Amino acid sequence: MKIKKALTYDDVLLVPQYSDIKSRKEIYIGNVLDEHHWFGMPIISSPMDTVTETDIAHSMCRYGGLGIIHRYNTIEEQALLVYETYNSLLYSAKRPYVGAAVGVTGDYLERASTLCENGAEIICIDVAHGHHALVKNAIETLKTELDSKVHIMAGNIATLEGFNALADWGADSVRCNIGGGSICSTRIQTGHGLPGLQTILDCARTDRDVKIIADGGIRSSGDIVKALAAGADFVMIGSLLAGTDETPGEKIVTSAGTMKKYRGMASTDAQIEWRGKTSSEEGISTYVEYKGPADEILKSLCNGIKSGLSYSGARTIQQFQTKARFVRQTPAGLSESKTHILYK
Ligand code: XMP
Repeated sequence: MKIKKALTYDDVLLVPQYSDIKSRKEIYIGNVLDEHHWFGMPIISSPMDTVTETDIAHSMCRYGGLGIIHRYNTIEEQALLVYETYNSLLYSAKRPYVGAAVGVTGDYLERASTLCENGAEIICIDVAHGHHALVKNAIETLKTELDSKVHIMAGNIATLEGFNALADWGADSVRCNIGGGSICSTRIQTGHGLPGLQTILDCARTDRDVKIIADGGIRSSGDIVKALAAGADFVMIGSLLAGTDETPGEKIVTSAGTMKKYRGMASTDAQIEWRGKTSSEEGISTYVEYKGPADEILKSLCNGIKSGLSYSGARTIQQFQTKARFVRQTPAGLSESKTHILYK
């Protein structure tokens, strides 16, 4: 059996190139999701119950990004979160877009229709293994039943075959990466997955006109820049936002400091809470350091992305994608790439 080598974020660096950019103000990091939905930054928050409800969706909107309201609640509860997100921002300078997640069985069609009635324009078909017959059925059903302007995001997939299949079934964008998220244990539990950056590099070879969303395993603005260079149109983040004021959940004070819960939606903790039972455990539940306001994090990510583009001499994401050049780094290169000052 021939085994392919697969790379992830820490395996590569981007080669700095000539630049005539004098200020980050010259750089535009917005991107288009489809002809009806365009964004000021290429960042989407994960549909997880410790990440995206109304408050983080507001923060995402304010910075020009998108929040996807999670689906681990009743239709009424999720619709209210969508309604609150949409109607408090309705009169702001920028028209808000609200995203919301659905599954592929049971009440998903009723859920999606109710979410759209309450202001959602982006419906995210949110399952762990997206290259699946049930996802085909759900995409085709939602494409037929919902307004044609509703954007259908679907996933997750790990291969170009999976990406092209979801595109051919009608998805407008596809979440790429399986088991690469910070709280995922899918690869440990099942042995399946692909290093996250490789999935983006592979999917970027598609000839379908469908957007690529790099989802999971993004730890810094540097990782976002690498994902964009590899061909992603947007990135989706969970842990970078976990622990902020705007994420759902209480702050708890421990001997290690103030913390907030962050959990995988396939963790036993989450499964028991939202459906009263657990099957295969493919995520963990943990506590992360309390981080204060999400705005500070989003501001820093945007500045980091702009700086990243400027190191390749690019003023837009599209220009960056044509110019960016990767090199592989060795383990010694990786340790040099991290801060490594020696204290006596
Ligand atoms: P980060 O690294 O940003 O990843 O924290 C967030 C992404 O992780 C995925 N996700 C899961 N994957 N088991 C998994 O294998 C889980 O329990 C789980 N919960 C979330 C999801 O794609 C999310 O956007």
